[in-house]
Amino acid sequence: MRTRVTELLGIEYPIVQGGMQWVGRAELASAVSNAGGLGILTALTQPSPEDLRREIERCRELTDKPFGVNLTILPTIKPVPYEDYARAIAESGVGIVETAGRNPEPFLPLFKEAGIKVIHKCTSIRHSLKAERIGCDMVSVDGFECAGHPGEDDVTNLILLPLAARRLKIPFLASGGLGDGRGLAAALAMGADGINMGTRFMVTREAPIHESVKQAMVDASELDTALIYRSLRNTARVFKNEIAQQVLAIEAQPGETRFEDIRELVSGAKGKELLENGELDQGIWSAGMVVGLIDDIPACEELIQRIVKDAKAIINDRLQAMVAG
Ligand SMILES: Cc1cc2nc3c(=O)[nH]c(=O)nc-3n(C[C@H](O)[C@H](O)[C@H](O)COP(=O)(O)O)c2cc1C
Repeated sequence: MRTRVTELLGIEYPIVQGGMQWVGRAELASAVSNAGGLGILTALTQPSPEDLRREIERCRELTDKPFGVNLTILPTIKPVPYEDYARAIAESGVGIVETAGRNPEPFLPLFKEAGIKVIHKCTSIRHSLKAERIGCDMVSVDGFECAGHPGEDDVTNLILLPLAARRLKIPFLASGGLGDGRGLAAALAMGADGINMGTRFMVTREAPIHESVKQAMVDASELDTALIYRSLRNTARVFKNEIAQQVLAIEAQPGETRFEDIRELVSGAKGKELLENGELDQGIWSAGMVVGLIDDIPACEELIQRIVKDAKAIINDRLQAMVAG
């Protein structure tokens, strides 16, 4: 498959694994890259910029294909040395960065000077256009279906992607709700140059998380995600477990929700432990509506081959037959 994304990133298939806190480690990123997609390490999963440098080295030992690093710039309770993480990335020789959260403009000169291609992930057309204007090489358009932070506009990819195709000049990835060949073919049909997947890659053999978490996602339906933090205008889509439902109940109480009221339930440390020990009701974890389309735990190679094969069959057989003659 050849698209502007495969050309720009130097990869075989237009399939990217988006940054995932606690999940985007060298095991997963290298497996995706070895399978012909683009694997992405998550910078803030590493406790310090020095650890990130080591993780990049570890990934390099596991693959000789291109891979990227995600830098998520969000307001945090504990200050994060973003500049130092950005410098670690720029000095490591990694060729691709996925930025997300706040405006990445302050970091662009550093990345550009290092010859890095920047993919900015955003949830609206206005932010996509801004990313193009400030010099990002590509955007990842994250629809309302996505895991993590879908923004507050609630616009699905059926609308966002054609709008992006009409308005953007730079290549873009469809992100959110994608997990199979139908999704890839549809995204390409709507004008995207490739797809970005989080949840689907979380449920693969190489994802470095507990098997129970993967199995819970296999067993889940499209109704098993919840939108928490709506009342704080910082919406996050997570797996609808006991803790997510407790958070929703607190947010539904009359009056303003204070972060203090839910802080214990949603602690990052508990979420991290949950992914490691498989205790499903210990904390929260991000998951997208695409869990409804996930019913196995394949290796990344098998998954990518299947998606590409199915997408090609849809394009060459089903769609061709509809327009032939
Ligand atoms: C467990 C998990 C953790 C995530 N953490 C981050 C993150 O730290 N930074 C970020 O930019 N996106 C994060 N995401 C979002 C993904 O990169 C991607 O945009 C999203 O999963 C796409 O939607 P999908 O899950 O429907 O494929 C996370 C997603 C998941 C499933």
